[in-house]
Amino acid sequence: MPVPLLDLRAQHAAIRDEVARAMMRVVDAQSFILGAPVEELEHQVAELSKTKYAIGCASGTDALLLALRALDIGRGDEVITTPFTFFATAGTIHNVGATPVFVDIEPQAFNIAPEAIAAAITPRTKAVIPVDLFGQMAALEKVTAAAPGIPVIEDAAQSIGARRQIGGTWRMAGEAATMGTLSFFPSKNLGGYGDGGMIVTQDQALATRLRRLRVHGGTKQYFHDEVGYNSRLDALQAAVLSAKLPHLAKWSEKRRENAKYYNEALAGIDGVCTPCVDPKNESIFNQYTIRAQRRDELQAYLKSKEIGTSIYYPLPLHLQPCFAYLGYREGACPQSERASKEVLSLPIYPELTRGQLDEVVDAIRAFYE
Ligand SMILES: Cc1ncc(COP(=O)(O)O)c(C=O)c1O
Repeated sequence: MPVPLLDLRAQHAAIRDEVARAMMRVVDAQSFILGAPVEELEHQVAELSKTKYAIGCASGTDALLLALRALDIGRGDEVITTPFTFFATAGTIHNVGATPVFVDIEPQAFNIAPEAIAAAITPRTKAVIPVDLFGQMAALEKVTAAAPGIPVIEDAAQSIGARRQIGGTWRMAGEAATMGTLSFFPSKNLGGYGDGGMIVTQDQALATRLRRLRVHGGTKQYFHDEVGYNSRLDALQAAVLSAKLPHLAKWSEKRRENAKYYNEALAGIDGVCTPCVDPKNESIFNQYTIRAQRRDELQAYLKSKEIGTSIYYPLPLHLQPCFAYLGYREGACPQSERASKEVLSLPIYPELTRGQLDEVVDAIRAFYE
């Protein structure tokens, strides 16, 4: 039985009518740009994230770009981030004219190592972007402590609804940062039927600025206080996402159950190291990522058994050709480099059957035996 890495059709089959009704309401109203569906989703996501404001935009990439612009970050500024992340985290820093400064990860959760941040701070540091990788929040309180007074943009593209205990209280992804950025790319736990993104924040002034920046920098049509972007969230996407949102907690719980099943079943296999979740975190398992000996051979073997896997990420950002101008060499971020050679993400989506999970486990066991 084939086991794809992700099967969005299985999810869609279960919610088709609800989503179709929500989409048709937008189509019948013939009102496609911002408006009530986007405002409704913004309220719902702010409530989920326990933030005062949420601002929809065109993608998770644009959410980062708008957040950087809202902090007036540009040429001559430095932004500290992790090299073990999706490209957008650093690409947007470059695209506002600033310099990405890469700090290595800690090997357990694959998130930025807070203790390495202090050494990277200079008078030009204008923000830190920790990434909540694979569904698990970065140690936000430690990041904040390592960079006192420096704004934190939490890239929570992979982690909507994840939580971390900070000072004895559960804090949601995006809640405790200066701004949190979300992606509704279809493969995320809350995925749209196309691109979409959002920024969450507790700061009213930033929220106002972000709303302006997403519509060409003006609050009144055809009058522009600054140069912004066309980065609106489609009303159709917002309607789809609002229809899907009530299912999110259940889907993420199912992912956690699948992760637990894998953890137990894979525990005894020499050559596999199952993912570590910090006891202070509740992951939403956007990815279930193991470290594997002979990783590439294992991936090819699983492919021959029609089991989908993926490598997130095969080349850390500090070694990408486009960032050669920054002057990083191999060895600069050893944990990220090691992770890129060892990680393998397995199918974890909520609709997986027990039979499919067993298929994956049996194939991995057969490979190492
Ligand atoms: C960590 C991270 N940051 C940013 C993004 C960008 O989001 P989008 O694809 O919606 O532009 C993604 C999406 O894949 C991501 O995983």
